[in-house]
Amino acid sequence: MRSFIHALPKVELHVHLVGSAGVGTVLELARRHPEAGVPTDRAELERFYTFRDFDHFLKVYWAVQSMLKGRADIHTLVVGLARELARQNVRYAEVTVTPHNHITDGMAGDELLAGLASGRAEAAALGVDLAWCFDIPGEKGLVAARETLTFALSERPDGLVSFGLAGPEAGIGRAQFAPFFDAARDAGLHSVPHAGETTGPETIWSAVRDLRAERIGHGTSCVEDPALVEHLVLKGIPLEVCPTSNVRTQQVASIETHPVRQMLDAGVVVTLNTDDPPFFGATLEGEYLAVAAALDLTPAQVARLAENAVLASFLPGSRKTALL
Ligand code: ADE
Ligand code: ZN
Repeated sequence: MRSFIHALPKVELHVHLVGSAGVGTVLELARRHPEAGVPTDRAELERFYTFRDFDHFLKVYWAVQSMLKGRADIHTLVVGLARELARQNVRYAEVTVTPHNHITDGMAGDELLAGLASGRAEAAALGVDLAWCFDIPGEKGLVAARETLTFALSERPDGLVSFGLAGPEAGIGRAQFAPFFDAARDAGLHSVPHAGETTGPETIWSAVRDLRAERIGHGTSCVEDPALVEHLVLKGIPLEVCPTSNVRTQQVASIETHPVRQMLDAGVVVTLNTDDPPFFGATLEGEYLAVAAALDLTPAQVARLAENAVLASFLPGSRKTALL
Protein backbone atom coordinates (compact mmCIF):
# COMPACT_ATOMS: atom_id res chain seq x y z
CA MET A 1 0.00 0.00 0.00
CA ARG A 2 2.86 2.40 0.83
CA SER A 3 4.38 2.18 -2.67
CA PHE A 4 0.91 2.29 -4.27
CA ILE A 5 0.18 5.54 -2.41
CA HIS A 6 3.57 6.98 -3.31
CA ALA A 7 3.01 6.25 -7.01
CA LEU A 8 -0.38 8.01 -7.09
CA PRO A 9 -0.07 11.52 -8.56
CA LYS A 10 -1.35 13.45 -5.58
CA VAL A 11 -2.90 16.84 -4.96
CA GLU A 12 -2.91 18.75 -1.65
CA LEU A 13 -5.76 21.20 -1.13
CA HIS A 14 -5.30 22.31 2.47
CA VAL A 15 -1.84 23.33 3.64
CA HIS A 16 -0.86 26.61 5.31
CA LEU A 17 2.39 28.12 4.03
CA VAL A 18 3.71 29.08 7.47
CA GLY A 19 2.46 25.78 8.86
CA SER A 20 4.39 23.87 6.19
CA ALA A 21 7.80 24.92 7.49
CA GLY A 22 9.80 21.81 8.31
CA VAL A 23 12.75 21.63 10.68
CA GLY A 24 15.29 22.13 7.84
CA THR A 25 13.54 25.29 6.66
CA VAL A 26 13.15 26.68 10.18
CA LEU A 27 16.81 25.97 10.89
CA GLU A 28 17.77 28.00 7.80
CA LEU A 29 15.48 30.84 8.90
CA ALA A 30 16.68 30.71 12.52
CA ARG A 31 20.33 30.98 11.42
CA ARG A 32 19.40 33.89 9.13
CA HIS A 33 17.49 35.64 11.94
CA PRO A 34 19.24 34.75 15.23
CA GLU A 35 17.51 37.72 16.91
CA ALA A 36 14.22 35.75 16.79
CA GLY A 37 15.51 33.43 19.52
CA VAL A 38 14.45 30.26 17.69
CA PRO A 39 16.90 27.37 18.34
CA THR A 40 19.68 27.19 15.75
CA ASP A 41 20.76 23.74 16.90
CA ARG A 42 18.93 20.93 15.09
CA ALA A 43 18.34 18.70 18.15
CA GLU A 44 17.09 21.62 20.22
CA LEU A 45 14.86 22.79 17.37
CA GLU A 46 13.40 19.31 17.00
CA ARG A 47 12.48 19.38 20.69
CA PHE A 48 10.91 22.83 20.31
CA TYR A 49 8.98 21.51 17.31
CA THR A 50 7.54 18.45 19.02
CA PHE A 51 3.81 18.98 19.33
CA ARG A 52 2.63 19.31 22.94
CA ASP A 53 -0.74 20.98 22.78
CA PHE A 54 -2.60 23.59 20.77
CA ASP A 55 -1.09 26.53 22.70
CA HIS A 56 2.40 25.22 22.05
CA PHE A 57 1.50 24.76 18.36
CA LEU A 58 0.53 28.43 18.21
CA LYS A 59 3.76 29.44 19.95
CA VAL A 60 5.88 27.60 17.36
CA TYR A 61 3.68 28.90 14.51
CA TRP A 62 4.17 32.51 15.62
CA ALA A 63 7.92 31.95 16.16
CA VAL A 64 8.21 30.84 12.51
CA GLN A 65 6.02 33.75 11.44
CA SER A 66 8.30 36.21 13.28
CA MET A 67 11.30 35.15 11.16
CA LEU A 68 9.64 35.97 7.84
CA LYS A 69 11.04 39.39 7.05
CA GLY A 70 11.33 39.56 3.29
CA ARG A 71 11.22 37.88 -0.10
CA ALA A 72 14.17 35.56 0.63
CA ASP A 73 12.38 34.13 3.68
CA ILE A 74 9.14 33.53 1.77
CA HIS A 75 11.17 31.95 -1.05
CA THR A 76 12.87 29.63 1.46
CA LEU A 77 9.49 28.61 2.87
CA VAL A 78 7.88 27.95 -0.52
CA VAL A 79 10.84 25.97 -1.86
CA GLY A 80 11.04 23.93 1.36
CA LEU A 81 7.37 23.00 0.93
CA ALA A 82 7.83 22.22 -2.79
CA ARG A 83 10.78 19.89 -2.11
CA GLU A 84 8.73 18.01 0.45
CA LEU A 85 5.78 17.75 -1.95
CA ALA A 86 8.03 16.55 -4.78
CA ARG A 87 9.50 13.89 -2.46
CA GLN A 88 5.97 12.53 -1.94
CA ASN A 89 4.94 12.73 -5.59
CA VAL A 90 2.47 15.53 -4.88
CA ARG A 91 2.14 17.27 -8.22
CA TYR A 92 -0.13 20.19 -7.36
CA ALA A 93 -0.99 22.06 -4.17
CA GLU A 94 -3.25 24.95 -3.24
CA VAL A 95 -1.32 26.69 -0.50
CA THR A 96 -2.93 29.04 2.02
CA VAL A 97 -1.11 32.33 2.53
CA THR A 98 -2.21 34.91 5.11
CA PRO A 99 -1.04 38.29 3.74
CA HIS A 100 -2.41 40.21 6.73
CA ASN A 101 -0.05 38.42 9.14
CA HIS A 102 3.02 39.15 7.01
CA ILE A 103 2.07 42.76 6.39
CA THR A 104 1.30 43.52 10.06
CA ASP A 105 4.66 41.95 10.89
CA GLY A 106 6.26 44.64 8.76
CA MET A 107 6.80 42.90 5.43
CA ALA A 108 6.04 44.96 2.33
CA GLY A 109 3.34 43.42 0.14
CA ASP A 110 5.78 43.47 -2.80
CA GLU A 111 8.30 41.43 -0.86
CA LEU A 112 5.68 38.80 -0.07
CA LEU A 113 4.58 38.62 -3.70
CA ALA A 114 8.17 38.45 -5.00
CA GLY A 115 8.98 35.55 -2.64
CA LEU A 116 5.79 33.70 -3.63
CA ALA A 117 6.52 34.18 -7.35
CA SER A 118 10.17 33.09 -7.22
CA GLY A 119 9.32 30.14 -4.95
CA ARG A 120 6.51 29.09 -7.27
CA ALA A 121 8.85 29.18 -10.27
CA GLU A 122 11.37 26.98 -8.48
CA ALA A 123 8.56 24.62 -7.40
CA ALA A 124 7.46 24.26 -11.04
CA ALA A 125 11.03 23.32 -11.97
CA LEU A 126 10.77 20.55 -9.34
CA GLY A 127 7.58 19.28 -11.00
CA VAL A 128 5.21 20.74 -8.39
CA ASP A 129 2.61 23.27 -9.48
CA LEU A 130 1.53 25.65 -6.74
CA ALA A 131 -1.57 27.80 -6.50
CA TRP A 132 -2.44 30.25 -3.74
CA CYS A 133 -5.38 30.77 -1.44
CA PHE A 134 -5.22 34.14 0.33
CA ASP A 135 -7.07 33.83 3.61
CA ILE A 136 -8.51 36.04 6.32
CA PRO A 137 -7.24 35.32 9.83
CA GLY A 138 -10.74 35.36 11.37
CA GLU A 139 -9.55 36.33 14.85
CA LYS A 140 -8.21 39.62 13.44
CA GLY A 141 -11.68 40.76 12.45
CA LEU A 142 -13.11 42.88 9.69
CA VAL A 143 -10.13 45.20 9.24
CA ALA A 144 -7.96 42.19 8.38
CA ALA A 145 -10.73 40.90 6.12
CA ARG A 146 -10.81 44.12 4.14
CA GLU A 147 -7.03 44.28 3.93
CA THR A 148 -6.88 40.67 2.67
CA LEU A 149 -9.54 41.31 0.04
CA THR A 150 -7.96 44.56 -1.15
CA PHE A 151 -4.52 42.95 -1.36
CA ALA A 152 -5.86 39.91 -3.23
CA LEU A 153 -7.87 41.88 -5.77
CA SER A 154 -5.43 44.71 -6.36
CA GLU A 155 -2.39 42.44 -6.73
CA ARG A 156 -3.97 39.35 -8.29
CA PRO A 157 -0.67 37.42 -8.37
CA ASP A 158 -0.23 34.54 -10.81
CA GLY A 159 -1.57 31.36 -9.25
CA LEU A 160 -4.08 33.02 -6.90
CA VAL A 161 -7.22 30.89 -7.17
CA SER A 162 -9.15 31.20 -3.94
CA PHE A 163 -10.15 33.18 -0.89
CA GLY A 164 -10.22 31.62 2.59
CA LEU A 165 -10.96 32.14 6.25
CA ALA A 166 -9.03 30.42 9.07
CA GLY A 167 -8.20 30.81 12.74
CA PRO A 168 -10.43 29.98 15.70
CA GLU A 169 -14.14 29.51 14.95
CA ALA A 170 -15.86 29.87 18.32
CA GLY A 171 -17.37 33.33 18.67
CA ILE A 172 -16.16 34.35 15.20
CA GLY A 173 -19.26 33.95 13.05
CA ARG A 174 -18.67 33.23 9.38
CA ALA A 175 -21.58 35.44 8.23
CA GLN A 176 -19.80 38.72 9.10
CA PHE A 177 -17.31 37.94 6.33
CA ALA A 178 -19.99 37.52 3.64
CA PRO A 179 -19.39 40.88 1.88
CA PHE A 180 -15.68 40.07 1.47
CA PHE A 181 -16.41 36.63 0.06
CA ASP A 182 -19.06 38.12 -2.27
CA ALA A 183 -16.48 40.54 -3.67
CA ALA A 184 -13.82 37.83 -3.98
CA ARG A 185 -16.23 35.53 -5.83
CA ASP A 186 -17.34 38.38 -8.10
CA ALA A 187 -13.67 38.80 -9.00
CA GLY A 188 -13.38 35.12 -9.89
CA LEU A 189 -11.79 33.73 -6.74
CA HIS A 190 -13.17 30.50 -5.29
CA SER A 191 -14.59 30.38 -1.75
CA VAL A 192 -12.82 27.97 0.62
CA PRO A 193 -13.44 28.87 4.27
CA HIS A 194 -12.48 26.69 7.23
CA ALA A 195 -15.63 25.56 9.03
CA GLY A 196 -16.57 22.80 11.44
CA GLU A 197 -13.00 22.16 12.60
CA THR A 198 -13.54 23.37 16.15
CA THR A 199 -17.27 24.18 16.19
CA GLY A 200 -20.47 22.44 15.19
CA PRO A 201 -22.41 21.99 11.95
CA GLU A 202 -24.03 25.43 12.17
CA THR A 203 -20.65 26.94 11.23
CA ILE A 204 -20.55 24.75 8.11
CA TRP A 205 -24.12 25.76 7.21
CA SER A 206 -23.04 29.39 7.50
CA ALA A 207 -19.96 28.78 5.34
CA VAL A 208 -22.18 27.20 2.69
CA ARG A 209 -25.04 29.70 2.85
CA ASP A 210 -23.31 32.97 3.74
CA LEU A 211 -19.91 32.47 2.12
CA ARG A 212 -21.06 30.18 -0.72
CA ALA A 213 -18.25 27.78 0.10
CA GLU A 214 -17.15 25.67 -2.86
CA ARG A 215 -15.08 23.48 -0.57
CA ILE A 216 -14.95 23.36 3.21
CA GLY A 217 -11.73 23.42 5.20
CA HIS A 218 -12.09 20.46 7.60
CA GLY A 219 -15.89 20.16 7.94
CA THR A 220 -15.33 17.56 10.66
CA SER A 221 -18.55 18.26 12.57
CA CYS A 222 -20.85 17.89 9.53
CA VAL A 223 -21.66 14.32 10.59
CA GLU A 224 -23.58 15.70 13.57
CA ASP A 225 -26.28 16.96 11.19
CA PRO A 226 -27.69 14.47 8.66
CA ALA A 227 -29.43 17.27 6.72
CA LEU A 228 -26.09 19.00 6.28
CA VAL A 229 -24.40 15.81 5.13
CA GLU A 230 -27.20 15.34 2.60
CA HIS A 231 -26.75 18.93 1.42
CA LEU A 232 -22.98 18.48 0.97
CA VAL A 233 -23.59 15.29 -1.02
CA LEU A 234 -26.36 16.83 -3.13
CA LYS A 235 -24.37 19.95 -3.97
CA GLY A 236 -21.10 18.04 -4.36
CA ILE A 237 -19.28 20.33 -1.92
CA PRO A 238 -15.97 18.59 -1.10
CA LEU A 239 -14.41 18.53 2.36
CA GLU A 240 -10.71 19.16 2.94
CA VAL A 241 -10.32 16.59 5.68
CA CYS A 242 -7.12 16.78 7.75
CA PRO A 243 -7.23 13.66 9.95
CA THR A 244 -3.87 13.89 11.76
CA SER A 245 -4.35 17.61 12.42
CA ASN A 246 -7.74 16.85 13.99
CA VAL A 247 -6.22 14.18 16.23
CA ARG A 248 -3.26 16.35 17.28
CA THR A 249 -5.48 19.33 18.11
CA GLN A 250 -7.74 16.91 20.02
CA GLN A 251 -10.86 17.54 17.97
CA VAL A 252 -11.14 13.77 17.46
CA ALA A 253 -9.70 10.96 19.58
CA SER A 254 -8.02 8.91 16.86
CA ILE A 255 -7.90 8.27 13.12
CA GLU A 256 -9.97 5.13 13.79
CA THR A 257 -12.78 7.18 15.29
CA HIS A 258 -12.48 10.10 12.85
CA PRO A 259 -15.83 10.85 11.15
CA VAL A 260 -14.15 10.39 7.74
CA ARG A 261 -15.71 6.93 7.79
CA GLN A 262 -19.26 8.31 8.09
CA MET A 263 -18.50 10.99 5.52
CA LEU A 264 -17.42 8.39 2.97
CA ASP A 265 -20.32 6.06 3.79
CA ALA A 266 -22.74 8.96 3.19
CA GLY A 267 -21.17 9.77 -0.20
CA VAL A 268 -19.52 13.05 0.75
CA VAL A 269 -16.60 14.05 -1.52
CA VAL A 270 -13.68 13.57 0.86
CA THR A 271 -10.17 14.82 0.12
CA LEU A 272 -7.20 14.11 2.42
CA ASN A 273 -4.87 16.91 3.47
CA THR A 274 -2.21 17.86 6.02
CA ASP A 275 -3.01 21.41 7.29
CA ASP A 276 0.29 22.25 9.08
CA PRO A 277 2.24 19.06 8.34
CA PRO A 278 5.55 19.24 10.28
CA PHE A 279 3.80 20.76 13.29
CA PHE A 280 1.51 17.75 13.50
CA GLY A 281 4.05 15.17 12.31
CA ALA A 282 1.94 14.67 9.19
CA THR A 283 2.73 13.98 5.54
CA LEU A 284 0.19 13.62 2.76
CA GLU A 285 1.34 10.05 2.10
CA GLY A 286 0.96 9.39 5.82
CA GLU A 287 -2.65 10.66 5.77
CA TYR A 288 -3.51 8.27 2.93
CA LEU A 289 -1.77 5.38 4.69
CA ALA A 290 -3.42 6.05 8.04
CA VAL A 291 -6.92 6.38 6.60
CA ALA A 292 -6.43 3.30 4.39
CA ALA A 293 -5.38 1.27 7.43
CA ALA A 294 -8.08 2.62 9.76
CA LEU A 295 -10.88 2.07 7.25
CA ASP A 296 -9.40 -1.04 5.66
CA LEU A 297 -9.60 0.54 2.21
CA THR A 298 -8.77 -1.27 -1.02
CA PRO A 299 -6.23 0.27 -3.43
CA ALA A 300 -9.14 1.29 -5.68
CA GLN A 301 -10.78 3.17 -2.79
CA VAL A 302 -7.50 4.91 -1.97
CA ALA A 303 -7.06 5.89 -5.63
CA ARG A 304 -10.58 7.30 -5.50
CA LEU A 305 -9.57 9.60 -2.64
CA ALA A 306 -6.66 10.90 -4.69
CA GLU A 307 -8.99 11.41 -7.68
CA ASN A 308 -11.41 13.32 -5.45
CA ALA A 309 -8.66 15.83 -4.67
CA VAL A 310 -7.82 16.29 -8.35
CA LEU A 311 -11.48 16.83 -9.22
CA ALA A 312 -12.08 19.14 -6.25
CA SER A 313 -9.05 21.27 -7.12
CA PHE A 314 -9.30 24.56 -8.99
CA LEU A 315 -7.06 23.32 -11.78
CA PRO A 316 -8.41 23.87 -15.28
CA GLY A 317 -10.11 20.79 -16.74
CA SER A 318 -7.29 19.77 -19.06
CA ARG A 319 -4.76 19.85 -16.21
CA LYS A 320 -7.08 17.70 -14.08
CA THR A 321 -7.27 15.09 -16.83
CA ALA A 322 -3.47 14.89 -16.89
CA LEU A 323 -3.47 13.91 -13.18
CA LEU A 324 -6.25 11.32 -13.33
N1 ADE B 1 -4.23 28.24 10.65
C1 ADE B 1 -3.21 27.37 10.60
N2 ADE B 1 -3.61 26.16 11.02
C2 ADE B 1 -4.92 26.26 11.34
C3 ADE B 1 -5.89 25.37 11.81
N3 ADE B 1 -5.61 24.08 12.05
N4 ADE B 1 -7.13 25.85 12.01
C4 ADE B 1 -7.42 27.13 11.78
N5 ADE B 1 -6.55 28.00 11.33
C5 ADE B 1 -5.30 27.59 11.11
ZN1 ZN C 1 -6.22 24.85 8.08
